[in-house]
This record gives sequence, C-alpha cells and structure tokens, in this order.
Amino acid sequence: MAELRVARAPHIESEIVVPGDKSISHRAVILASLTNGTCTLQGFLPSQDCLCTVDAMRMLGIGIEQPDDTTLVIHGQRGHFRAPTGPIDCGNSGTLMRLLCGLLANQPFESELIGDASLSSRPMNRVIEPLAKMGAVIEATGPNGTAPLKIKGQKLEPIRYELPVASAQVKSAILLAGLQIPGKTTVVEPVPLRDHTERMMDYFLIRTIREPVNSAYSVSIYGEQVAESRDFIVPGDISSAAFWMVAAAAQEGSSLLIRDVGLNETRTGILSVLLRMGAHVREVVQDTEHGEPRGEIRIDGTRLHGTVIAGNEIPNVIDEIPILAVAASLAQGKTLIRDAHELRVKETDRLAAIAANLTAMGVDVVEFQDGLEINGGAPLMNGRLKSFGDHRIAMAFAVAGLFADGETVIEDAECIHTSYPGFENHLNDLLFPNDDRTTPVINPAGALDKH
Ligand code: S3P
Repeated sequence: MAELRVARAPHIESEIVVPGDKSISHRAVILASLTNGTCTLQGFLPSQDCLCTVDAMRMLGIGIEQPDDTTLVIHGQRGHFRAPTGPIDCGNSGTLMRLLCGLLANQPFESELIGDASLSSRPMNRVIEPLAKMGAVIEATGPNGTAPLKIKGQKLEPIRYELPVASAQVKSAILLAGLQIPGKTTVVEPVPLRDHTERMMDYFLIRTIREPVNSAYSVSIYGEQVAESRDFIVPGDISSAAFWMVAAAAQEGSSLLIRDVGLNETRTGILSVLLRMGAHVREVVQDTEHGEPRGEIRIDGTRLHGTVIAGNEIPNVIDEIPILAVAASLAQGKTLIRDAHELRVKETDRLAAIAANLTAMGVDVVEFQDGLEINGGAPLMNGRLKSFGDHRIAMAFAVAGLFADGETVIEDAECIHTSYPGFENHLNDLLFPNDDRTTPVINPAGALDKH
C-alpha cells in the first residue's frame, strides 16, 4: 500500500491551480448526458470518483470521449438511456450513487448500483425515502438500508419534499427525478446547501425556481424540459484548495495565491472560518462564467487562534472539517466544532478519524457525538497516521505533517486519488517551487501514482 511521507515544511511562497471541482464534475457529466447534443467539458476532475461517473454514463449508453485527462466530449441523448448490462459500480462515491438513484428511478428498466466497502456502509434511506414517495421502487439489499441498491424503474409523480437531512446529494437526486416527469417537484432545504445542480440546470437551459424559505431556499423544477447542449468549464475545487490554504495560513511568512478556483458562496465557508481564526485571506471573484463564480484567493500566513464552527455554517464547510481541525490544532486556544454529526457517515467516521490522528500527534482533543473540541497551539508530534481509507483525512494529516518535526507517514494514502490526483506533486511543487525534486518530501517508494 502506498505511504505518503511528509517532512516539516519551509514556508510557502507560491501560486497554484488546483484540479477541477468534484461536485461540479459529477454533475456536469450527468447533465451533459441529458442534453440534446454534444457538450465539451473542460477542467473535468479525472479522479477515481468522477471517472466512475463517466463509466456509469457510458454503461447507460452515453458516448463519451476523453481527448485528454481533463477534457470530455459528451454526446447527450435527451434523457434517454440504455439499460445497463450489469451492476453500475459507484466506487467510493456517495454523490454518484445518490444522484443515480434520482436519475434512474423513472427509467423504463432495472438497474443495480454497487460500491466499495465504505460506500456500502453509508446511509441510502435518505434518498430512497423521498424517491419512494414519488413512486420509486428502490431496494437496499445491504444490511441497514445500504447498497447494493436495486432500482426498478417506474413512472414517478412529482412531490414537495422538506429535506430532513441537510444533504445536497439528496436535493440533487430529487431534482434529477423531477426533471423527467410531468408537473412541479419542489425540494425545501433546512439550511442553505451547495447549489451546483440548480445552477448547472439553469446553465443547460433547464429552468428552476428558487424561493427563500426561512433562512434557506426551496428549489422547484417543472419536468419534461430538454437540456440544451452547451460547453462547460469546471472551476478549481475549493475543497482541494483548502489543504494549501491552511498550510499557508497557519505559518508566518507564507504567502499563497490560488488561481481559477470556484467561489460559489455555498462552498466558501472555509474563508469565513479562517478569517475568524485571524488569517489574512482575500478572495476576488473574477467572473461567473458558466453559472459558477470563480476567481482567486490570496493567503498570507500568521498565528491563528481558535473559533467556533457550528449551526448553519456546517454544510458549507462539511468537506473542510478535517483540514479545519488541523488548522485548529495549530491555532492558539480552543476551537469548538458542533452540529457536525453528518461527518460520522462520510467516507469514514471523520470525527473519530480526526480525533484519533490528532491524539496520535499529541493534540488535546475531546470528541462529542456531533463534533470536537480542539485545544491547539502545542507542537505537533510526528509519527505514523492512518488515512482510514478516506482521501480528505489523508490529505489533512499530510498538511499536519508539514508542521511536525521529523517524518510523518500517512498510511494507505492511495485513497487521495478519489478526489485529488497529483496531490503529492503539488505538495512538492508548493514547498520547493524552484526545485528539481532533489529534496522530495514524498518518499519515492510511496509514489502514489503506482495505484
Ligand atoms: C456533495 C455534498 C456533500 C459533500 C460531498 C459532495 C455533493 O454531501 O459532503 O462531498 O456533491 O452534493 P451531502 O450532500 O451528503 O451533505
């Protein structure tokens, strides 16, 4: 198994463009497949998760060419798909499995969705339940409402559904189902959730209606609209940029420019959290090309201090909690993370994984059912840390290793390729921008691209 070996970093003075956004890449492939013609996607994230989406759409009869790693040419079939000849493998991707439930529930054929061990233990009732209210027949054949999922395509009915769980994946699945049936389907968010699906639907000229409800929104879609084929450029993933943001923000003397990154305000919560921690962060939105704001983020390092991350802010930083926990361990004083119980059902139980790794690094951390208390500011101890098979845990603790003396080893680090192919090269490039790699931070024996 590949190991990632990390040494204490010199300060960072660099600029970087991170790979394409994972949430947007999944959606772009699915929505382009629904259009009435050919769409070229640029900036696609060629990670394992998103490549599973490409394979899934191909199994459903969509022609997709990949002239280079980050470019896809997708031949939309106006919402018509072919019955798959075998189970569709969603790999590690909860987004893919849940979005496919919405896409396939109304198709005139049966399909089966499978995933790896992690995905096969994640809750699927949250998506099965609302789709069942629309008339879907989806059987979770795993032990506790878990995958493998068997979908028997049915004619669905529209609904108005108030999400009991703050999940953009469930919202998206219902909208994808609603797109294919007559009438008005409405989803009501409990708190503002990432809105890439509705933005991209609008971009492909599928009209959605967004109305404020309490402190969040409802999104409605009138079905049976045909998406118009258009080209699309995926912005850089702010959740991948987050690792470098913290690496720079927590070290005095560091300065980092992140270019061409997505700045959708349902995803930029990390900037607010870092600002509250005392970081010097500036974002500049440069355009909203293709419906998604994008631009640059500048960070100058300083001594951080603790903060509280809780309530409605959590969905906006849900994927950044592992790296924010590392920031908290480097900050002076106490950081409290609450209302984050959803982290227990991510690629791994992230609260337990963060607590275990911070403890191994000598950090004072208390674990709650829905969060963590981290008392930061003491030196981090190096050692061997587990990835728990979770890409964001592996990358967050690789960054923690930059702040520890000696060598920090992240075990089973190949999972990083789930969302960030080339992470290890960016780590080298950022730390040694003018270097010919004679001083690798990563042990060649652990080269991740062997995976
Ligand atoms: C995602 C939504 C979030 C996030 C996941 C990607 C998406 O999950 O954690 O990495 O693309 O919609 P939930 O919708 O389950 O909160």
